[in-house]
Amino acid sequence: MTTARLVLRRWHDEDRVPFAALNADPEVMRFFPRPLTRAESDEFADRIEAAFDEHGYGLWAVDAAEAGGFVGFVGLAWQRFPAHFTPALEIGWRLARHAWGRGYATEAAVAARDFAFRPVADPSGGAGMDEIVSITTRTNEPSQAVMRRIGMTRDPADDFLHPSLAPDHPLAPHVLHRLRRA
Ligand SMILES: CC(C)(COP(=O)(O)OP(=O)(O)OC[C@H]1O[C@@H](n2cnc3c(N)ncnc32)[C@H](O)[C@@H]1OP(=O)(O)O)[C@@H](O)C(=O)NCCC(=O)NCCS
Repeated sequence: MTTARLVLRRWHDEDRVPFAALNADPEVMRFFPRPLTRAESDEFADRIEAAFDEHGYGLWAVDAAEAGGFVGFVGLAWQRFPAHFTPALEIGWRLARHAWGRGYATEAAVAARDFAFRPVADPSGGAGMDEIVSITTRTNEPSQAVMRRIGMTRDPADDFLHPSLAPDHPLAPHVLHRLRRA
């Protein structure tokens, strides 16, 4: 998919080095338990590719020509961990620090959101969803700002503790944003 400034595409092997670099950046990963090793980053890229093979969509690699090419991912991922709202299709994003503050995440997320709601048979591709969600730890304000900018809303009644973290972990409290097809 293309937007005014971006290309959202399947992954290339060459993306793995810059992807590992952003996953190793403590600032990029400050709302996650810890940065990823190269092996963990590659395993994540493998899982992303497997999801594309299964569904035909996923966490697209994002190219920004004016920022030198690959800047991270924006896209759609099925969440199946035990929670009151799962299984659910989540929209998510992770960009390298040099690509922040330019509106890239929101621009790409609009394209991913519109893909999610288009019918599966649409010539431009679609996931045929009635609702998408987005989750993040309660303190990740930059990510929640992207959610709001693409029209998602949070109901505090949907707040939850992420089951993969200990309940007393500072990152465990999560917020859920939802968006229904217009
Ligand atoms: C979450 C994340 C993608 C948000 O990035 P971001 O740069 O804040 O968001 P956008 O790309 O939408 O850019 C918006 C900012 O660009 C600015 N901007 C500059 N030029 C712009 C343009 N041409 N168009 C739109 N916005 C522009 C906006 O004013 C806004 O700045 P502000 O936050 O100071 O108000 C980024 O912080 C990130 O990758 N974090 C690490 C990973 C992570 O936490 N992911 C989410 C896990 S749930």
